[in-house]
Amino acid sequence: MYFGVDYYPEHWVFPYAGTAEEPESRWPVDIQLMLDAGVNVVRLGEFAWGLYEPEEGKFNFDWMRRAMDLFNEAGIKVVLGTPTAAPPIWLARKHPEILPIDAHGQIKHEGTRRAYCANSDVYWEYTQKILRALVGALGHHPALIAWQIDNGIGGHNTETSFNEETRRDWHAWLKAKYETVARLNDMLGLSFWSQRVTRFEDVPMPRQTPTVHNPALIVDWMRFSSDTLVAYMRMQAQLLHELTPSIPVTNNLRALWRSFDHFDMAEALDFVSLDSNATINTKSAELACEIDMMRSLKKQGVRTPDGDCGFWVIEQKAGNVNWQDVNSLVRPGVVRLFTHQLISRGACGVLYFLWRQPRIGSEKFYGGVLGHDGSAETRAYREIKQIGHEIKRLAPFLKGTRVVADVCILYSHENDWSLRFTTQPTQHFHYREHIQLFYTALHDKNIPVDFARPTEDLSRYKIVFAPSLSLLACGEADLLRMYVQNGGTLVSTFNTGLVDEHHIAPDSGYPHDLTDVFGLEVREFDPLPPGEQNHLTFRGAFPATHLHPGKLWCDIIEPKGCQVIGVYSKDFYSGKPAMTMNQYGNGRAVYLGTMSDQPFYHDLVTWLRNLCGLHPLLKVPDTIEVSLREKEGQRIFFLLNHQNSPVRLHFYKPMHDFLSGNTFTGSYDMPPHGVLVLDEQPEHRQAAAEHAKTATVHSGQGSAPAIAAG
Ligand code: GAL
Repeated sequence: MYFGVDYYPEHWVFPYAGTAEEPESRWPVDIQLMLDAGVNVVRLGEFAWGLYEPEEGKFNFDWMRRAMDLFNEAGIKVVLGTPTAAPPIWLARKHPEILPIDAHGQIKHEGTRRAYCANSDVYWEYTQKILRALVGALGHHPALIAWQIDNGIGGHNTETSFNEETRRDWHAWLKAKYETVARLNDMLGLSFWSQRVTRFEDVPMPRQTPTVHNPALIVDWMRFSSDTLVAYMRMQAQLLHELTPSIPVTNNLRALWRSFDHFDMAEALDFVSLDSNATINTKSAELACEIDMMRSLKKQGVRTPDGDCGFWVIEQKAGNVNWQDVNSLVRPGVVRLFTHQLISRGACGVLYFLWRQPRIGSEKFYGGVLGHDGSAETRAYREIKQIGHEIKRLAPFLKGTRVVADVCILYSHENDWSLRFTTQPTQHFHYREHIQLFYTALHDKNIPVDFARPTEDLSRYKIVFAPSLSLLACGEADLLRMYVQNGGTLVSTFNTGLVDEHHIAPDSGYPHDLTDVFGLEVREFDPLPPGEQNHLTFRGAFPATHLHPGKLWCDIIEPKGCQVIGVYSKDFYSGKPAMTMNQYGNGRAVYLGTMSDQPFYHDLVTWLRNLCGLHPLLKVPDTIEVSLREKEGQRIFFLLNHQNSPVRLHFYKPMHDFLSGNTFTGSYDMPPHGVLVLDEQPEHRQAAAEHAKTATVHSGQGSAPAIAAG
């Protein structure tokens, strides 16, 4: 398994390190410290263009080759960045047309990174030139195992630009999509405010205007902008595949933060890598959700450097970040905990950002493995060294294992763009937060979750959650119908099927094309101001542990054959359904007409678990996070204590912990931020049989080990 750091050799030469006589003398010192910590890979060079090519056509890759040679001698492999995230100053001076223009018509100037428009022909040309030169110089270096294309694509709000070349490509994209101007006018609904055009060339880019643009145009614009970034990534990937076919390509993505389609982007890559932020303020369920989103981006065709099937964490923060209001130190043990959390959810490579706090530039107070003084006497270095050794022990057992989920949450970028960038019934609805309510409930009950887009094959999932697919394409609705028909359990919510892919509202009732699947029709919806609440009362077997509120949005539902599970208890729609279930084909479709607080979603998952025969991975105290990586004949459980205090576990079967080598029986106090990696080896199963008579608590699928709360 690859374990490493992000290293910037250019930061550690004279005058910042080394001496005038031996400017690079720090490099071997760093390499030795890396080796001691178990490092076997580094990422290099993702912003180095201006150093590789200080003047146009004058290349100097020698310094990087010397660094790579040293790594190679030490047996440390290299992921090399293509340096296009930071165009050199001379390029922007010579070709200012590469600089991105924003919606106000303002240029985003040179002098930092990401100052390029991905529609620029000149930028494509220069990208190919630097890539060819880079591959010529370093692409066949024995240490090279992967390319990272660009860096943080779309970051710093560079997902869209409004340049003249963008306008040209936008019109070509529209032409390819609609073929005729008449169809474009109809499908984009340009009769509204009579904005019809007579030529494709007259369709505006959605720049700053007196009021909001046509929503259909905005969603198309976001699709087009996403396709632009993916095309730029694909162009680099294709060139690299052509020149170095054996070297896989990746990019450092963030969990669906940026406004491009991450699933499309992942298709352009051989494997997905992500940036992860271990900060003390982040909740474990939120981090876990991000990791599962990223793991789910590429479910097939993964090609990692060592042939493993997961994803990489190419920037796991080694300490504090520098972009919060207050960048507090990361507490002892937390980086280790978060690293194991990433591995537990499928990571098969982890690199820390960054090896050493830079003495120069805008990230100098970012937490590093080493501080400015370069000494290894740091808390972070000790912790990472410990993790390095743990990973060495774990790696052979993890090889080839994967996370398997029976539950899936749907996520649609197009829907997200529609919700964020077009006028909505309420400004207080937040798609990501709504998803998190479902995710947290599943996470807290230790039920593994995949994410998928609505167009994927969902047949393998027992339950599919589809929160607020407000923009739902007709084809997507058909797939959901089929999923239920064939026996699946679909859980949808308010704010579903209000518009189709053309942003046209249905004339056949909401949720469009699915009213028969849910056995209801939403007649009206009542967005509630913050602080206002309705209340829900439940019928039958729904296990309500609290008085659950209805918040933010209340659908007024006319049942048409569905079973009513819960009703509103206030206002003129008191007594009307708020939650329903419908048998359709061989499956069922559950509908939640409102939003509630977290405890409702916990109850919902308890109810669904019984309904669908879902089991938690293990029975443990609520505060312990459990994940499972498995392959034929091997199941490895990760238990993480995210608390600042110890948590007592009871083992009803002896369990072997890979990290400590201990076998646990009876009770064990898991320390604050503690991690256990447990397996089910045959000899332990044997021993477990002896204990079976005394086991009082069983959990999970029949064969899952039983651990119970104290
Ligand atoms: C990453 C980026 C790094 C660094 C970091 C700061 O996305 O790749 O270069 O800037 O963010 O959070």
